[in-house]
Amino acid sequence: MSDACHRHDVLILGSGAAGLSLALRLPETLSVAVVSKRELREGSTLYAQGGISAVLDAGDSIESHVQDTLKAGAGLCDRAVVRHVVERGPDNIRWLLDQGVEFTRDTEHGAGATGGYHLTREGGHTHRRVIHAADATGRAIATTLEGQVRDRANVTLYEQHIAVDLITARHLPGYGEHRCLGAYILDLGSGRVETFLARFVVLATGGANKVYLYTSNPDVSTGDGIAMAWRAGCRVANMEFMQFHPTCLYHPQARSFLVTEALRGEGARLLLPDGERFMPRFDPRAELAPRDIVARAIDHEMKRLGSECVYLDISHRPADFVIEHFPTIHARCLELGIDITREPIPVVPAAHYTCGGVMVDRQARTDLPGLYASGETAYTGLHGANRMASNSLLECLVYSEAAAADIVRLSSEVPPPPEVPNWDESRVTEPDEEVVVTHNWDELRRFMWDYVGIVRTNKRLRRAKRRADLLAQEVIEYYSNFRVGNDLIELRNLLEVADLIIQSALRRRESRGLHYTLDHPLKDAGQRTPTILIPDAYQPRKGE
Ligand code: FAD
Ligand code: SIN
Repeated sequence: MSDACHRHDVLILGSGAAGLSLALRLPETLSVAVVSKRELREGSTLYAQGGISAVLDAGDSIESHVQDTLKAGAGLCDRAVVRHVVERGPDNIRWLLDQGVEFTRDTEHGAGATGGYHLTREGGHTHRRVIHAADATGRAIATTLEGQVRDRANVTLYEQHIAVDLITARHLPGYGEHRCLGAYILDLGSGRVETFLARFVVLATGGANKVYLYTSNPDVSTGDGIAMAWRAGCRVANMEFMQFHPTCLYHPQARSFLVTEALRGEGARLLLPDGERFMPRFDPRAELAPRDIVARAIDHEMKRLGSECVYLDISHRPADFVIEHFPTIHARCLELGIDITREPIPVVPAAHYTCGGVMVDRQARTDLPGLYASGETAYTGLHGANRMASNSLLECLVYSEAAAADIVRLSSEVPPPPEVPNWDESRVTEPDEEVVVTHNWDELRRFMWDYVGIVRTNKRLRRAKRRADLLAQEVIEYYSNFRVGNDLIELRNLLEVADLIIQSALRRRESRGLHYTLDHPLKDAGQRTPTILIPDAYQPRKGE
């Protein structure tokens, strides 16, 4: 066997909340590889601000969290999944506490009904149920889990390694079993594509929000897992529901900086440039309406007034309170000359969360035996047409817990995969025109923003489809002829995902949740089902 072949029991692609919590939930008797295309902690998880929702207050209830999630999801959530995830919430928070995550304590009320932790509120939640670490919850989780996983003898970490494609039976002619066997992975240090084989493979590669020009997400969110699973024959659902966060900082030097919804939970108001508060005109819940409604209202007002941004104002709350609860935002804005204790923050909506993804069951199993998906990559049925704030980290934890349990259950039954051919580079040469990649990357993100954004029309979607097809043709040609590199791999995946988003948006001939089209501005009760796309390579699981 070539020295470029790695063998493990479990191969986890991605090291955010989904990937690392899964690695930590597996027993030390299993050998685990965690692959991350940058340094371990880089990913959306690190930047999460608001917190994690769970029923932790004695005055709150599972039923209330379920109902709020269903309402935000605009009729498309899977009720059984919602209940299951919400019920698993408190135990998963306890698990995080056991790992050492330090959530903010409630200094005002002490131990009280919430066990001593401060709970904040965000859009769509009718109770305070978001546990947090000030306004940097993701950092607290990511760094704690990273510390734990680096101490695990059974876990090998491969940073700066990017998965290119999954290995399935099609890479091994004559091998009868329809199963995921591993992945081809590019070592970004050596430039070599290596073979990783495993009995179980998990996609925990996060979302696809870099498909849009403006996004709250870090650079790694390029939909790699969704694209790889699609190519390997897995169904993908609800890709039209891309969530735009209403409030990202609007400043020429502030790339990708979110201003948490918890600010609105603690009383911040959205204002027009002339100081008028406008959200009560759009929804009785005003600033705490679900995100789709707030983002659309901001988009509407910005277009109506021709303004470049709107403003978020918390300066009426005491300065000490603001600094204690939002130290990260306060410090970042101050660096840019904005004192949030005294003046409003300029904000705009930006692409934030991928509600759709690779279809999984309750055990996080995809359509391809041996392949699991967890976190933002997956479509579980929890979010429906619009994810409620702070339900995402919760979903990561609950589905990774389930995947780990399933892997443990099956681990004595599944044999190691056979040898497979190494990555074939015999017919490719060094790239000759990198400009194809950079140009197409920029063009894709711009037309997705302009034509497949917060407000859509059939005409814009068809225009986007024509452009996506053209770019895909060029990029596939380039991919077939030249040695792969990070940007080419990501662009190929983004184009695949863009196509899935556009196809799904064209199929939904109504407005629901995050999908709003001027051609069908109303909700249609007849379309109360997820949009499921089926790839050519799809094979139903045996017995299903
Ligand atoms: P990520 O954390 O994004 O991790 C993905 C991992 O996959 C990374 O390690 C990446 O390097 C790796 N990867 C990707 N592609 C490849 C590849 N091809 N090969 C190898 N590795 C790969 N949700 C909440 O519930 N509460 C919040 O308060 C909250 N705030 C947010 C604030 C911001 C600014 C953002 C961007 C999101 C926020 N969200 C929040 C959403 C939530 O953070 C994410 O949905 C969640 O963290 C996703 O976790 P994940 O593990 O699925 O993916
Ligand atoms: C935020 O803090 O506003 C983001 C919360 C989320 O995306 O769930």
